[in-house]
Amino acid sequence: VSKIAILTSGGDAPGMNATIRAVVRTGVYMGLEVYGVMRGYSGMMEDDIFPMGSKTVANIIQRGGTILKSARCREFYTEDGRRQAYANLKKRGIDGLVVIGGDGSFTGAMKLQNEFGLPVIGLPGTIDKDLYGTDFTIGFDTACNTAVQAIDKIRDTADAHDRLFIVEVMGRHAGYIALHSGIATGAETILIPEAATNIEDVIASLSEKEKRKKLVNIIVVAEGDAFGGANEVAKIVRERLPNFDTKVSILGHIQRGGSPTCIDRLVASRMGYHAVEALLEGKSNVMVGIINNEIVYTPLEVAIREKDSVDENWLRIVKILAS
Ligand code: F6P
Repeated sequence: VSKIAILTSGGDAPGMNATIRAVVRTGVYMGLEVYGVMRGYSGMMEDDIFPMGSKTVANIIQRGGTILKSARCREFYTEDGRRQAYANLKKRGIDGLVVIGGDGSFTGAMKLQNEFGLPVIGLPGTIDKDLYGTDFTIGFDTACNTAVQAIDKIRDTADAHDRLFIVEVMGRHAGYIALHSGIATGAETILIPEAATNIEDVIASLSEKEKRKKLVNIIVVAEGDAFGGANEVAKIVRERLPNFDTKVSILGHIQRGGSPTCIDRLVASRMGYHAVEALLEGKSNVMVGIINNEIVYTPLEVAIREKDSVDENWLRIVKILAS
């Protein structure tokens, strides 16, 4: 490997810039030529590719978003689209690719490897933490901290008015942000797609709390929960518990922005370094992950397909600590 390219794709995540910096600087240090691809696979198809040096990544470690911009590219799903994209890498002699993104981005990377033999390394860049083979994804910790700060503020006003708040956090198919931020903010209940929720239990618990005059409650809902988000849950709760003053708050895209936390910067820096090292060692089609503080490599296919199961104890902890 002598020339590598890097791109960010799918939903952006805080720490993507720190990852780009790590890949570029490691690549340059190892004597490689490094190219940046703009807007993920869209820029690869449109030939929006440029050389990057150490200076091009100065002063970005602390910035949210991604200097390479990101996109979800439909044309890349077609073979013609991919052929055109690969031709743009080939004419520059690019012989290795680092993709920072989530499952859709990894699917594209696998196709480039399988169809053209291009060595690819995936780095888990998603706030959802919905990839198998890593304890951390780049951006997850920052998103959780953003949610925690927001929910703490909601708790202040909930307390002042004795209100029940149903707070929706991001996570289309994954409840990790809900689980982590919910436990960290003392939520009454956490509703996530990975666990079946018995709404009767939730109603019964709230009724019991009403009797004890505990009227300040926070329910954290992942956007992808079985009910269809916070508004749907609120409908049921308002109908069944009209005495509660129930409010909904949807945190939305604030969870995707902001300066990455220390943990996300460390994860980004370590993973970025190991992505380049992996390419130099001849590895391909794998995602770099961190498990028990060790760097591990998981086939992209497995990282996308397998799901971590949510530890039942976590939900038990929520119940006990909110009683
Ligand atoms: O995958 C990250 C994520 O923020 C999900 O949690 C959310 O469902 C989705 O992206 C939103 O996507 P978009 O920004 O394209 O609306």
